[in-house]
Amino acid sequence: MTLDFLSYLLLAASTLCTIGFTQSLSREDDVVPRIVFDYNNTDRPVKHFHRDGVRNYTKLLLSPEHGLLYVGAKDAIFSLDVFNIAPNEFKNEVIWEVPEQKRNECHFKGKSLSSDCFNYIKILLQVNSTHVYVCGTYAFSPTCAYIHIANFSLEKSRFGNLLTEDGKGRCPFDPTYKSTAIMVDGALYAGTVSNFQGNEPIISRSLGNKPPLKTENSLNWLQDPSFVGSEFIQEGVSAKNSDSDDGKVYFFFSETGKEFDFFENTIVSRIAQICTGDIGGERVLQKRWTTFLKAQLSCSLPDDGFPFNVIQDMFVLSTRKGDWENITFYGVFTSQWYKGGAASSAVCAYSMEDMKKAFNGRYMEVNRETQQWYPYNHVVPEPRPGACITNIARAMNINSSFQMPDKVLNFAKDHFLMEEIVRSQPLLMKKHMKYIQITVDRVQTISGYYDVLFLGTENGILHKAINVNHKVHIIEEITVFAEPQPVQNLILDSKQGMLYASSYSGVVQLPVSNCNIYLSCGECVLARDPYCAWDGNMCRDMRGLQLELHWKQDIERGRPEQQCQQHDSSSLGPRALQPSRTTSCETITVRPNSFRVLSCKVQSNLATRTWTHNGAAVDDSFMVLPDGGIIATAEPLGVYECWAIEEDFWLLVANYCIRLDGSPEATTLHASRKSIQGLNDGPGPREKGIIINPLSSESRFPQLTSGKTYWTEFVVVSVVFGLTLAVSSLVFLYRNRDKMKSLIKDGECSNIQQKKQRKIEIPHESLPLNGNPVQVVASEHHKGYQSLNDNHICSTPVLENAVSDKDSGYPESPNNQMNQKNLYVEISAHCTQPRVRIGSEIKDSVV
Ligand SMILES: *[C@@H]1O[C@H](CO)[C@@H](O)[C@H](O)[C@H]1NC(C)=O
Ligand SMILES: *[C@@H]1O[C@H](CO)[C@@H](O)[C@H](O)[C@H]1NC(C)=O
Ligand SMILES: *[C@@H]1O[C@H](CO)[C@@H](O)[C@H](O)[C@H]1NC(C)=O
Ligand SMILES: *[C@@H]1O[C@H](CO)[C@@H](O)[C@H](O)[C@H]1NC(C)=O
Ligand SMILES: *[C@@H]1O[C@H](CO)[C@@H](O)[C@H](O)[C@H]1NC(C)=O
Ligand SMILES: *[C@@H]1O[C@H](CO)[C@@H](O)[C@H](O)[C@H]1NC(C)=O
Repeated sequence: MTLDFLSYLLLAASTLCTIGFTQSLSREDDVVPRIVFDYNNTDRPVKHFHRDGVRNYTKLLLSPEHGLLYVGAKDAIFSLDVFNIAPNEFKNEVIWEVPEQKRNECHFKGKSLSSDCFNYIKILLQVNSTHVYVCGTYAFSPTCAYIHIANFSLEKSRFGNLLTEDGKGRCPFDPTYKSTAIMVDGALYAGTVSNFQGNEPIISRSLGNKPPLKTENSLNWLQDPSFVGSEFIQEGVSAKNSDSDDGKVYFFFSETGKEFDFFENTIVSRIAQICTGDIGGERVLQKRWTTFLKAQLSCSLPDDGFPFNVIQDMFVLSTRKGDWENITFYGVFTSQWYKGGAASSAVCAYSMEDMKKAFNGRYMEVNRETQQWYPYNHVVPEPRPGACITNIARAMNINSSFQMPDKVLNFAKDHFLMEEIVRSQPLLMKKHMKYIQITVDRVQTISGYYDVLFLGTENGILHKAINVNHKVHIIEEITVFAEPQPVQNLILDSKQGMLYASSYSGVVQLPVSNCNIYLSCGECVLARDPYCAWDGNMCRDMRGLQLELHWKQDIERGRPEQQCQQHDSSSLGPRALQPSRTTSCETITVRPNSFRVLSCKVQSNLATRTWTHNGAAVDDSFMVLPDGGIIATAEPLGVYECWAIEEDFWLLVANYCIRLDGSPEATTLHASRKSIQGLNDGPGPREKGIIINPLSSESRFPQLTSGKTYWTEFVVVSVVFGLTLAVSSLVFLYRNRDKMKSLIKDGECSNIQQKKQRKIEIPHESLPLNGNPVQVVASEHHKGYQSLNDNHICSTPVLENAVSDKDSGYPESPNNQMNQKNLYVEISAHCTQPRVRIGSEIKDSVV
């Protein structure tokens, strides 16, 4: 029994443990990013900007024609040269601080001097070629100003004092409030709050030469909204649509869904429209929008209808100017409820047609007594309320909203919610990740166009993903900020192929693609990155290049064997070819009775790893560690190769030749990664990942010579090993406790079955004549959110049926202020679906 064998045992024990824990981290049916780059990884260069002492980089504005990036931060605005992004490197800056007196006023009103009473820049928009419009929270007293682009300074009056404007109704008071603003033809359209308390939401127009307009607060058009974006869409260019208008601004937000009275606080996502040609009404809706309409956006899983009801961001992808009919809306959503653990998010896409259909459909109407919402089934006045001025209106001699008949405007006042829900199923669902930003690039490849999604998370991570044949592939994951912090802005310079993200600590710039880390045809094709193709010599970024048909790419399937065979057969695996012997192996010496850990870092998370020894796959007599390394001992000697296998593509990742070392000198650990081409500038040697350093145990026993017995050591190690085994089994038992329980409780099985049957029976018995039993069963585990997918309101519950176990199904997120109360299923004769209700009122009414 030698010491080396003992440490070997220890390794084995620790291996067992680690395997147990890594398995518990792996998730089924979750999309895994193919490659993960940690922060400041040299393989995925990211440039950082921040200015010392400045935090909260709240707003970004790109000026591509000048090669400039404007950055709004706390008390400062910068202009950066996009070709020279580096810490403290800026072309110009404007320091725009709040005077001490104003800060004291803010403090006096109960706001925090250390966080609230600063000037957080929330609006940064290009007015025209000479000016940028900027608004800040200005210590809870929103204020706007102009910046001269030429000398990058705030506009001053003749007497040298700052020319500022009141920012109320344009910029929020509270720096954490989610608001949006957009500049169209010199007019500012904003979605925000207009008072200090933050309870008067507003969609407003100001500046420019059109009359200022806003939403009417007493009409409850907005219910505690949280704005995530806005977009101007110019219509009327299409010839076939002669009744189109001069354009709309769309707002995207989440708010309290008052049409769902089941819950006190059901959140719904919305798209709202207003027409840029709107000038308000003459008698009715004076200085108010006459074209405000909103519709629900739904993003729910197809199988169980689980709703991602809280919109976080929306990207409007328009590919060509004027092609507004083909616009795609990409939204990221999270849920108010939980589905299997921590936060998850989804990406949904909507077409312009879907949106149009909802806005051209039926209106909803509220019953003033009961405050319940119903589809409006009666005659709608002409011209259509809420619509922009079209040729139909012009034919009626109505040239502007000013000439709209009062009856149309009175109707529009109360009928601002559309019945139709704009629906989509997630293109991508990611568990344990909260996406909060999205930007999309449409990329031309040899085989067509692909939409590449860039997603920013709440903890400083970017995902780059594609959706192909309804399956999502996450090409890479990049950690762009050192400390976890929300990606607050994510913008794309499609021309330069650059992505910008900002957060508390700074701004980062990174290229959309990273093709040169793929060293072989196989790796290039496996990446399935629409920006990258193998041109025969290298994996190149195809942006801006004349595409050539012989370039290798397979976005659909990522199968290298078809793509890479003829030109690059050497990179195919043993089935096609013997492993290349041209790559010289790294010589590792090992002393008798000792071992070495050979490491093998595989880049792709989708690859499986295989070690070969002298050309044959290793069997159970070799010890492979959980991190992929292998233990090489003095016998057998030979060649160890580590292969990464992905889609039948074999990549030689590491290659070692083990030699016997006679000298008593202590060994050191070596590891290296080589691609099969022997290119040496790939992801270089990595010394990380070695679990145990045998040297340390050696140094503890320096008098190690032959002849001595190691009985005590053996006992100690055996005990340790035994303990480890015991702990592992306990962990195993604990993790599988539910299965165990059910095994133990086998006798109670019939009982459970009965219970289940009864649960199904109750709603079945009470089914309305037009009811659908499937929906009833589904609703039981959907709980209340089922209602989100159904707008039909039933007023008189015929039967209420308590569902007591609120643990099953989807509990609400705790960070939501809603109370978790008992849930009730309501089934009525008027209702196609049962509804569920929480809250004390209904609880009381249960007999
Ligand atoms: C990133 O890494 C480079 C070199 O590896 C280093 O010089 C630089 O300081 C690092 N940057 C940050 C922000 O950690
Ligand atoms: C741009 O807008 C500013 C502010 O409204 C105005 O003073 C300036 O004259 C405009 N410049 C041009 C070139 O229109
Ligand atoms: C910046 O340039 C504008 C127009 O050229 C000028 O009116 C203004 O006074 C300049 N501001 C400063 C601070 O130089
Ligand atoms: C500003 O940054 C700090 C962290 O430095 C963060 O806690 C705070 O929420 C940020 N505020 C805003 C409005 O972004
Ligand atoms: C929208 O896309 C379709 C198919 O891609 C195309 O035929 C049509 O011309 C496009 N519409 C416009 C207005 O360009
Ligand atoms: C509307 O415009 C048309 C043509 O521009 C004009 O003939 C008509 O008198 C206008 N109607 C009103 C009510 O202003």
